[in-house]
Amino acid sequence: MEATEKTARQMEFLEKARGAAAAYAERLGHAPRSYIETFGCQMNARDSEKLRGILREAGFADAREENEADLVLYNTCTVRDNADQHVYGRLGRLGGNRKSHPGRIVGLCGCLMQEPHAVEKIKKSYPFVNLVFGTHNLYAFPELLYRALTEKKRVFEIEEKTTVLPESLPVERKHGFKSGVNIMYGCDNFCTYCIVPYVRGREISREPEDILAEVRHLAADGVKEIMLLGQNVNSYGKKLAEPATFAGLLRRICRVEGIERVRFMTSHPKDLSDDLVRAMAEEKKLCPHLHLPVQSGSDRLLKQMNRHYDRAHYLGLVEKLRAAVPDISLTTDIIVGFPGETEEDFEATLSLVREVGFDSAFTFIYSKRTGTPAASYPDQVPDEVAHERFDRLLAAVKEGAERMCGRFAGQVAEVLAEEENRQPGYITGRTPHNLVVHFPGTKEEIGKIVKVRLSDPRGFYYFGERV
Ligand code: 5AD
Ligand code: SF4
Repeated sequence: MEATEKTARQMEFLEKARGAAAAYAERLGHAPRSYIETFGCQMNARDSEKLRGILREAGFADAREENEADLVLYNTCTVRDNADQHVYGRLGRLGGNRKSHPGRIVGLCGCLMQEPHAVEKIKKSYPFVNLVFGTHNLYAFPELLYRALTEKKRVFEIEEKTTVLPESLPVERKHGFKSGVNIMYGCDNFCTYCIVPYVRGREISREPEDILAEVRHLAADGVKEIMLLGQNVNSYGKKLAEPATFAGLLRRICRVEGIERVRFMTSHPKDLSDDLVRAMAEEKKLCPHLHLPVQSGSDRLLKQMNRHYDRAHYLGLVEKLRAAVPDISLTTDIIVGFPGETEEDFEATLSLVREVGFDSAFTFIYSKRTGTPAASYPDQVPDEVAHERFDRLLAAVKEGAERMCGRFAGQVAEVLAEEENRQPGYITGRTPHNLVVHFPGTKEEIGKIVKVRLSDPRGFYYFGERV
């Protein structure tokens, strides 16, 4: 079956799911309510918006909390072991309450479900889970939902690779004013620690025209800020029948009227082109922020990690970026405790953090992922050593981030008002540099770009005044 036929078939199943949900409503005595919990990255967050869109079209209302839901769906992550444990912990709790929710549909999807050992465990130890699917058949959710609503037996459907992209189905955005847009799926890099290429499959780019059509549609719907999503956006378009470049795509997206800010993630240092650096300097709508995971400051470890760049290359990119966009905000991901990491390797990471001056960094303790090359490397670093290094790294990151955050003190920034703050009368928003600012405002301003003076630095964020 062709991809377009498969998508058309899902639209038919959406209709059928609506009928089945109406019957479910009758059994329940009220409109069914759904609750989706998203683990992991922005990719998963965007996938959940698609799942929510389908549920809404099928006639499900949003549950305010998990406990009142007639359908609970966990969109899982498996990037590190603690992501897995988080899911199992939540499932344990859900299982404990299951007596008070007879007939409830409990579903699992996402990255962890692409791991056969996890699926086995769910089959055996969590009998109340009655719907399981993976990352490659998200597009088939209408059909899976229909089956979960109508079949007595448990529905387990995992596919091995992507045949249909989950586009063209309804989407329910979390925010009216900003949206993620998938530009590519999967990853071909095979960093030796990383499970992503195994659970998300090979890299597939969407056609530029399809992406632009989606962005225009979002702009017409009031969206101001777009976040382009992909595991490695810098290699966007290389494998398309008519190859395209990421910088070219960005420039076209910046032309779309109504879109005021464009962000993207994640970039891989090995593929970051001069053309992209130029685009960052020239395109006014491109936010002056780049998330550029470095992972380690040691050349020896970067090689072991299969990252295809060295420390000098990374520092060279930082220099180029700062020359092109002087006040650019740089953020990164760092792993400590990778197999074989010596004190000297770790010191190299610390010194890189000090040398670059990151605006912030996500720091992780290496987590062994079965099936990845690094899992069988000798010299796994003992937990105590990894934790001790992690604490030292965190202190260095914090020190740098506070210094970097302080550089904006007193400036006036254009802040996109995003949500109400817990403190009454305050709104929280973000500057183009992705800096969080709390400022006096009302909820009617959410989604607007307002001018705020960054008067009061608080470490990693600001309290600001209206100007
Ligand atoms: N252990 C620890 N951190 C990891 N990451 C990916 N795989 C692992 C792992 N096995 C981190 C990397 C990546 C981020 C999304 O998660 O830093 O950039
Ligand atoms: Fe995202 Fe990777 Fe976690 Fe999947 S495994 S949700 S791609 S971080």
